Amino acid sequence: MKEILDAILNEETSAAEYAALKLPESYRAITLHKDEQEMFAGQESRDKDPRKSLHLDEITLPELGPGEALVAVMASAVNYNTVWSSIFEPVSTFSFLERYGRLSPEAARHDQPFHVLGSDLAGVVLRTGPGVHAWKPGDQVVAHCLSVELESADGHNDTMLDPEQRIWGFETNYGGLAEIALVKSNQLMPKPKHLTWEEAASPGLVNSTAYRQLVSRNGAGMKQGDNVLIWGASGGLGSYATQYALAGGANPICVVSSEAKAKICEAMGAEAIIDRSAEGYKFWKDEHNQDPREWKRFGGKIRELTGGEDVDIVFEHPGRETFGASVYVTRKGGTVVTCASTSGYMHQYDNRYLWMSLKRIVGSHFANYREAWEANRLIAKGKIHPTLSKTYTLAETGQASLDVHQNKHQGKVGVLCLAPEEGLGVTDHELRAKHIDAINRFRGE
Ligand SMILES: NC(=O)c1ccc[n+]([C@@H]2O[C@H](COP(=O)([O-])OP(=O)(O)OC[C@H]3O[C@@H](n4cnc5c(N)ncnc54)[C@H](OP(=O)(O)O)[C@@H]3O)[C@@H](O)[C@H]2O)c1
Repeated sequence: MKEILDAILNEETSAAEYAALKLPESYRAITLHKDEQEMFAGQESRDKDPRKSLHLDEITLPELGPGEALVAVMASAVNYNTVWSSIFEPVSTFSFLERYGRLSPEAARHDQPFHVLGSDLAGVVLRTGPGVHAWKPGDQVVAHCLSVELESADGHNDTMLDPEQRIWGFETNYGGLAEIALVKSNQLMPKPKHLTWEEAASPGLVNSTAYRQLVSRNGAGMKQGDNVLIWGASGGLGSYATQYALAGGANPICVVSSEAKAKICEAMGAEAIIDRSAEGYKFWKDEHNQDPREWKRFGGKIRELTGGEDVDIVFEHPGRETFGASVYVTRKGGTVVTCASTSGYMHQYDNRYLWMSLKRIVGSHFANYREAWEANRLIAKGKIHPTLSKTYTLAETGQASLDVHQNKHQGKVGVLCLAPEEGLGVTDHELRAKHIDAINRFRGE
């Protein structure tokens, strides 16, 4: 592994030298163990501690198949799917691996008694499999997390519709929270040159998701002037949604839960901010009943901030706790676009407000290669910026995941894999200097 790292740290290493590097037989990776999938049985979600289920193990290097690449991972990031995986909710990810493993001999490699997690990476291509011509050893890359087989006609208009669509490092094995990762070559994209490894690794999953959900015609198709209500506006998804709204000439109404989070939204350029904790909204009276007066109070606050206007788009992901309010506050003809249900997936809303006011609910999930490419391109051009707040070592991934599980973080939490320290990997210093304040915006203490 040392030879690989030395090659990466030496900026002069050629493609031929990379191709000649001997690959190790094993590498260090963050794993879940199949024989521990019942370890939290009976516990409340909030009590399940990712530090107990996430392990740092030595893993045998998987065989490289057609259309694939092995990538030396310099940095990765924690996503909410790392949290879901680590607490085995809503289901154990080993069920995904078993199902995938039945698909083909190549897919069978993924069905193991361990699961290497991680749906983001920035690093360097080490080897490419047969049939890969667009990428070569030595290429500096980031990877998006859409894994597709594309053997069915269904996915050829929009790859998210492939029946064998999976999220790499969540529904497949050999993810990015490791020293080496196995990806399909059509997950690769150029690493933004003005960013460090850990900054480049952090937007990936959430940036692409926010792009499709809010900007793409497959999502809400946001336009100039739209009022966009963004839940969790300083979180993983929300910190990108807020930037897309601002960069696209829309008007974000940012919902957060603390003064510190409100300050970060303000620093991004948002003017309309609602601190849901300070306002004390209680959309549910009890476990079964919502309180429409609270929806109305929330809508009144939005109107106060917009000069009397309602929202064109709600960027939804908290789910059960907020969905009734989201449907209510959307303007006539507006759109609620949802990609998740963090607080519960059985939603309840008053359908009269939907049909009588001709509103739409749109489901959105990750992004196709083209959308992920567009989202990465905007990062590379310095139009959208990483929202990295803190970086941990690979061995500390459990703690990093606990921070996200407990909602103690801002923006994105990074993980150094092979990178020995933060701050490495920048090759365009001029572009970096131009955007340095925005790049560091989420860095707290
Ligand atoms: N379908 C997809 O492709 C996709 C992609 C990415 C993520 N996701 C899912 O989307 C969800 C959010 O992911 P993320 O990376 O943005 O997570 P995150 O970094 O934890 O941010 C989510 C934010 O939502 C807010 N929030 C949480 N619970 C809430 C509640 N009950 N009511 C109102 N606001 C609440 C919190 O902000 P405040 O406390 O400041 O309000 C939190 O910071 C997760 O469930 C994740 O699995 C789905």
